[in-house]
Amino acid sequence: MSVLLPGGAGYIGSHTAVELLNSGKEIIIIDNFVNSKPEVLENIKKITGKDFKFYKIDFSDEKELEKVFKENKIDSVINFAGYKAVGESVKEPLKYYRNNVSGAIVLFEVMKKYNVKKIVFSSSATIYGDPGTPEYIEEMGRGKTTNPYGTTKCMIEQILEDIYVSDNSWDIGILRYFNPVGAHESGLIGEEPKGIPNNLMPFIMKVANKELDHLNVFGNDYKGTKDGTGARDYLHVVDLAKGHIKALEKLDKEKSGVFTYNLGTGTAYTVLEMIETFKKVNNIDVPYEIVERRPGDLPIFFANPNKAEKELGWKAEKTLEDMCRDSWNYIKNKS
Ligand code: UD1
Repeated sequence: MSVLLPGGAGYIGSHTAVELLNSGKEIIIIDNFVNSKPEVLENIKKITGKDFKFYKIDFSDEKELEKVFKENKIDSVINFAGYKAVGESVKEPLKYYRNNVSGAIVLFEVMKKYNVKKIVFSSSATIYGDPGTPEYIEEMGRGKTTNPYGTTKCMIEQILEDIYVSDNSWDIGILRYFNPVGAHESGLIGEEPKGIPNNLMPFIMKVANKELDHLNVFGNDYKGTKDGTGARDYLHVVDLAKGHIKALEKLDKEKSGVFTYNLGTGTAYTVLEMIETFKKVNNIDVPYEIVERRPGDLPIFFANPNKAEKELGWKAEKTLEDMCRDSWNYIKNKS
């Protein structure tokens, strides 16, 4: 029996593939390489010393997807496939709704047809919107999102909940990620955004690597953060990947249901703390300038991770130093 990973060659998918293989699971990856590279597959094999099946297909291509389900014994799915650039989603909402939401619907239909009813879905802290408090707890539920990317996550969560209402033999895990950073300690897989990145850590790395001359820090006059710059709950991608293994174990054990968890550390670090830690750990300069706030940014938010700890036995273990060191190790290893 195999775990199917749509988008398994991507940043979070590839780290989860490694943890699944290390825990003795068989996996099948499907990916269209729209935001990833074929070398990732070889590197997953190098890290784990294990092999797996791969199909270069789009997860929204029903015919091709059906072939995968016909040819293999699939027990569960962890869905990583989807576009994730917030700014692009504002400019091209239909592209996001078609790919992320329609693609997920195709996937769920094919799963239903082949009687595969166990799924873990990659959601995001962005679904909370702006709940008016910095600490996000699962029970708060979905708020008003500020961009189509976030809305696709809300819609897919809702679709999964509706599927469960219609057929309560499904096992559904919804994981709300906070801010994943870092890379596998081997330096063989990591995050490599195409073009100019949006998120903080990839931007820091481009500056450290002298591909960009400085980092813009978006605002230093936020209230409620240590130094006035924005604060987020950064978590190491390997910790995050391990959260998926725990979620699958939970779905294997439990009768059925929809289980929703925050995956974060519970601590928020500011932009300046990130820069200083990165500089110190890697002994490299990261020039920056304070500029205007970025529209739509919240001052601070972080996970309440207690539910994941209590019910999954999952807790983020790696430190901010680990995150900064491993992110940079991946970039150095490549160049
Ligand atoms: C963003 C997305 C969110 C997504 C998450 C994935 C927005 C509004 N939200 O969240 O939907 O799930 O990434 O990790 O884009 N910063 C700078 N300079 C930079 C880049 C960022 O100062 O060049 C600051 C931001 O103002 C923020 C912090 O760094 O305070 C983190 O930003 P980012 O990495 O983009 O993550 P989020 O804004 O939390």
